[in-house]
Amino acid sequence: MIVVMKSTSSDADVQHVLSFLQNHGLSGHLSQGVERTVIGVLGAVGPSGAPGSLGGINPSIGEALEGLPNVEDVVRVSKPYKLASREFHPEDTIVEVPSACVEGGIVRIGGKEVVMMAGPCTVETEKQLMTTAAAVRKEGAVILRGGAFKPSTSPYGFRGLGEEGLKLLAKARDEFGMAIITEVMTPSDVAMVCEYADILQIGTRNMQNYMLLDEVGRTRKPVVIKRGMSATFEEWLLAAEYILSQGNRNVILCERGIRTFEKATRNTMDISAFPLLKRLSHLPVLSDPSQGTGRRDIVGPLSLASVAAGADALLVEVHPNPDEALKDGAQSITIPQFRELMPQLHAVAGAIGRSVI
Ligand code: E4P
Ligand code: PEP
Repeated sequence: MIVVMKSTSSDADVQHVLSFLQNHGLSGHLSQGVERTVIGVLGAVGPSGAPGSLGGINPSIGEALEGLPNVEDVVRVSKPYKLASREFHPEDTIVEVPSACVEGGIVRIGGKEVVMMAGPCTVETEKQLMTTAAAVRKEGAVILRGGAFKPSTSPYGFRGLGEEGLKLLAKARDEFGMAIITEVMTPSDVAMVCEYADILQIGTRNMQNYMLLDEVGRTRKPVVIKRGMSATFEEWLLAAEYILSQGNRNVILCERGIRTFEKATRNTMDISAFPLLKRLSHLPVLSDPSQGTGRRDIVGPLSLASVAAGADALLVEVHPNPDEALKDGAQSITIPQFRELMPQLHAVAGAIGRSVI
């Protein structure tokens, strides 16, 4: 349920609605847009502080809300996800990330500029990380990616340097001014990863790890939530809803390819995700063409296609020597390939009235 306030409503009117909801055991989520103020109504708050069921809101509550001062309308949200829906928040959400390498010190994801995030799949050594960071920064990337906690299909595969890797990422931030995005895999690591990261990444394998989603939702850090490898848009948006419903509004969706019968690529990049998610949701949408293809030779074309289709940002794996990478070398592009890609991205973005930073 969404309460739409009249354009003439005051802060006191909004507060009145919020207090009414609280008194009825409901939680109110405020969204103050340029055009209008709306309050999303979620079910009763459970003992752990998590929002309760959405189904149990008594219709008479809706009628009572309609009678409160300066309430314009009370609308039922047709989708199972509420706070993630366009109905709740008609304007695009812009997630702000502190990044010292840009003018003003803030990168905005979800606005007119397409944001480039690049770096190694995995932090391997200081030299590998610094070489990559220097190169991608030189070409214009403003956010540095690098995994310190790595999911691995095989328990014998490389699983990352852990906190040591996070320290190296923080060192790269100090040196190049880029913000850091890195994966967090378990609720108990969230506080520690927050000390180093500017953006928390939830990987495809953890899209439905609800305890982890709750925990990152309790922070106020920007969170990238990757699409589960077999997830529908609805399941993915409901996963985002977990984070939003804990009060963290800084959520970015990441299309990274889905499992299909096709074997020529590691995953099948779902380009329809960009325009469709923009219709369903107000959240920014990021593209990961590296995981999406698994093939260095087509990361460039899929990056261009993602921007043309409406992606707000790109997450590209770059390695100084991909053939020797400890993880995902086949999908990591070389530094010269990255150098070649950037002007092409500028051209495609320019053609649709956007620019790349
Ligand atoms: C991401 O970088 C993951 O850690 C990686 O793609 C996992 O690959 P694997 O499934 O081959 O271990
Ligand atoms: C990654 O980007 O490091 C990663 C593990 O990706 P995904 O979760 O999409 O496989």
